[in-house]
Amino acid sequence: MVSRRRFLKLGAAVGAGLLMPRAWYASQLAAATPHVPGLFPMLDPTTLTKYLDPLPLPGVLQPVGKAKGGSYYIVQMNQAIQQLHAQLAPTTVWGYNGLYPGPTLEARTNQPVTVKWINNLPAAHLLPVDTTLGGTNMGEPAVRTVVHLHGGHVPQAVDGYPEDAFVPGGSATYIYPNAQHASTLWYHDHALGITRLNVYAGLAGFWLLRDAVEDSLNLPRRAYEIPIVIQDRAFNADGSLFYPTGPDEHVESALPMPSIVPEFFGDTILVNGKVWPFLEVEPRRYRFRILNGSNSRFYNLALGGVTFRQIGSEGGLLPAPVDLTEILLAPGERADVLVDFAAYTGQTLLMTNSASDGPFTGLGNDPPAEPATTGQIMQFRVTRPLQGSDTSSWPTTLPPFQYLSEASAVQERFLTLNEGEDDYGRLMLLIDNKGWHEVSEYPVLGTTEIWSFANVTPDTHPIHLHLVQFQILDRQQFNLKHYEKTGKVVFIGPRMPPDANERGWKDTARMNPGEVTRIIMRFEDYTGFYPYHCHILEHEDHEMMRQFQVVAGM
Ligand code: C2O
Ligand code: CU
Ligand code: CU
Repeated sequence: MVSRRRFLKLGAAVGAGLLMPRAWYASQLAAATPHVPGLFPMLDPTTLTKYLDPLPLPGVLQPVGKAKGGSYYIVQMNQAIQQLHAQLAPTTVWGYNGLYPGPTLEARTNQPVTVKWINNLPAAHLLPVDTTLGGTNMGEPAVRTVVHLHGGHVPQAVDGYPEDAFVPGGSATYIYPNAQHASTLWYHDHALGITRLNVYAGLAGFWLLRDAVEDSLNLPRRAYEIPIVIQDRAFNADGSLFYPTGPDEHVESALPMPSIVPEFFGDTILVNGKVWPFLEVEPRRYRFRILNGSNSRFYNLALGGVTFRQIGSEGGLLPAPVDLTEILLAPGERADVLVDFAAYTGQTLLMTNSASDGPFTGLGNDPPAEPATTGQIMQFRVTRPLQGSDTSSWPTTLPPFQYLSEASAVQERFLTLNEGEDDYGRLMLLIDNKGWHEVSEYPVLGTTEIWSFANVTPDTHPIHLHLVQFQILDRQQFNLKHYEKTGKVVFIGPRMPPDANERGWKDTARMNPGEVTRIIMRFEDYTGFYPYHCHILEHEDHEMMRQFQVVAGM
């Protein structure tokens, strides 16, 4: 237990490049990886002037025509060169239509769209592929992609099944029904065993779903509605993306090379694909769709005490607006928020991050984000003159919300989030001690279930289910020490309700160490196999991903 833990912490520290002297790490890396070009030296992020570049706004994807499945889009995954900061040499990235982040797909509820996803990437991967993982250890081609609409309620055939990945030259055409509430969805790569690398290389974009209910709220639109994807990266001095070839232990052990790292924490923050950008705003209301698109990093966002009025979570509108001065987002989570800049004319507001610079535990003793780097996200400058009066609303209530009742559940499943060890002695994270191919959850179509996850690891895991939007019922602490000795969950506190901004539809939820988190959901419309997994991408790729099978009722 102790040594595994050490492994995790050291690996995380290496990824962060912050907890250990950079020179020491670089020398270890150089010694261990003499044949990997471009890895040394790394870029010191403090050499980049912050708030030099304007925040890029992802373009809206335009259809190329009509198909029987609605508007028809073609998206090519391309390798491209992009300027991620004015003082940084251009970076080779992978992007949908060659753009990092990808273009935003704007859709309407119940109006299906068809997308042809084409893999036009090179045959060699941009980043170090570990060939010992499920999905990579059978001689699979290094470059494989499959697109997943995160938060989408879709048939299995278009969900982006991780084993249905296609190689360069390949493509897949998916019809998306969009039969769900207006919501902040996102699409990203999901190829088995290399999701962390494909997403890190740039394969992610927004998918905004709108409906009449949302329209009726008169929220800020067009120039005043801005998607924000926050991601951490690290760079080599030549501007190329840095991703570790392995944890530092590979120096002293027989780990494969490259080897997956337990987590990755970059020392540089990008928003919409720019390093520490700024946004000029008018003194009025704005709507921001905030997505944590990072591999492992959590963010606790603040705007110097300015209120975020959160109106939505992953799957749509909250039961009621929630005013917050800090928003905690795990990888994969989204917050739909309004900010009113009217009282801040002429001011510059800094969005900061106070979450951990390593694995997030939520226990209050995590290493805090570095104030000079990962503690900063972007600037908002209230310097634009107001264009006409702000007629958007600042909702104090939201449309009626349908809570799922515990009594309607026909099944309660108990699962653990736990640590294991792979054949190389590496720490891996598991769900219920089982692997990707060991299916044991068979929800019946048309029924409601409660799933209880007991997190017996030391870190918080953001657990994501495909197909469904769920609701968090509660969280309850148990005695972790006692569990380690006896394997029994003994509760030591009351059931705690979810945070106010977690009481809507969720598809990704933080599950804290030493707590049982209970979620409730209905399995509707589609049968088949769907993944559920930790959205820390290094965990997802190293066995913390399983699948459930929705089966037809009798
Ligand atoms: Cu955002 Cu299964 O993923
Ligand atoms: Cu998903
Ligand atoms: Cu995890």
